[in-house]
Amino acid sequence: MSKFKRIGVLTSGGDAPGMNAAIRAITRKAIDEGVEVMGIIGGYSGLINENLIPLSSGAVSNIITHGGTMLYSNRCPEFKTEEGMQKAIATCKKYDIDAIVAIGGDGTFRGATDLTLRGIPAIGVTGTIDNDITATDYTVGFDTAMNTIIETVDRLRDTCESHARCNIVEVMGRDCGQLALMTGIASGAVAVCIPEIPFDEDKAIDELIKARAYGKRGMIIVISEGVFVKDENGNDVRYGEVLKNKIQEKTGIETKFARLAHVVRGGSPTLRDRLTATRMGVRAVELLLDGKSNMVVVEEDGRITSMDILFALTADRMYKGKLKDGDLDKFSEAEIKEMEAICDKRRKEIESLYEMACEICR
Ligand code: ADP
Ligand code: F6P
Repeated sequence: MSKFKRIGVLTSGGDAPGMNAAIRAITRKAIDEGVEVMGIIGGYSGLINENLIPLSSGAVSNIITHGGTMLYSNRCPEFKTEEGMQKAIATCKKYDIDAIVAIGGDGTFRGATDLTLRGIPAIGVTGTIDNDITATDYTVGFDTAMNTIIETVDRLRDTCESHARCNIVEVMGRDCGQLALMTGIASGAVAVCIPEIPFDEDKAIDELIKARAYGKRGMIIVISEGVFVKDENGNDVRYGEVLKNKIQEKTGIETKFARLAHVVRGGSPTLRDRLTATRMGVRAVELLLDGKSNMVVVEEDGRITSMDILFALTADRMYKGKLKDGDLDKFSEAEIKEMEAICDKRRKEIESLYEMACEICR
């Protein structure tokens, strides 16, 4: 017999295609195990404002093909305050919610930890197009976003080719260049620009001039939204539009700029996202039923596994160079080594893909 009678599920932070598939899997697996499910509307704000709906197997029917999230999503600063947190806990108690599955990114997992620390066991499931959670190889939504990007870039290529233009395409990803790097390679871009690796502007411009000289007409450069430069007043500005102007000035090649922005967050999830979301959702319920909490479901070398949220978030800060004093104190030497290995693996993967992009993108 499960010690849980009822669990809650929510989606939080930026939405991602595949979140619905995860909601469906969590709901159906829990019901199958005799556990009721409440859907929490609008992320953590739904917990604060008692905005909940019961989820039956039928309620999640037909959502696996839909982008967005049927539970809606939100960024909820109030949840970060003790007062907001206490309201959320009170809602869990009032509605007999014994545990929470939170689908989202690293911010969402921080919220899940806070709930666990206050007595509501919580499990995280990844859902973000950015693939920016260091401890997992994959986050739900990434594949759909990549496919949307390459489809859109393919269209831009057609018109670039007709008009002999260059097009800079800026894609989301926050501080993580994976979306730009992988789609740049897959869409045959002449150059890729990501926050993790310094961009050799002179070389890129040189390559464009050479390419044009041997007859190349259409040219695409994929750039991540996380690449910034300083303007004349010392303010950070996104590099994409700056690069567009420089290319035009230095090469004479007519150059356009396109920011794909939120277009990339929508759409029906790919097979990869539907399947991964389903596997991760089922695993989240299994973990709760096994008495585990404060864990995040991750993908490691193709396997669906799980790890402690605090470990995952600390590894993430380590990778992003954001460790604060004392962050590592709670971990053993072996655990710190494990975190370093995770960071190293991610760094090497990005470096080797970027190296390959430099070799073949022209
Ligand atoms: P993501 O989950 O995609 O990283 P956010 O960083 O916006 O997105 O986080 C989503 C939500 O998670 C926030 O709006 C907030 O409600 C909650 N959250 C984020 N950081 C914390 C934190 N440090 N403590 C508690 N809750 C948090
Ligand atoms: O984290 C997902 C993401 O789409 C990022 O790629 C992007 O920087 C951010 O969210 C945009 O957030 P918002 O939807 O609040 O504009």
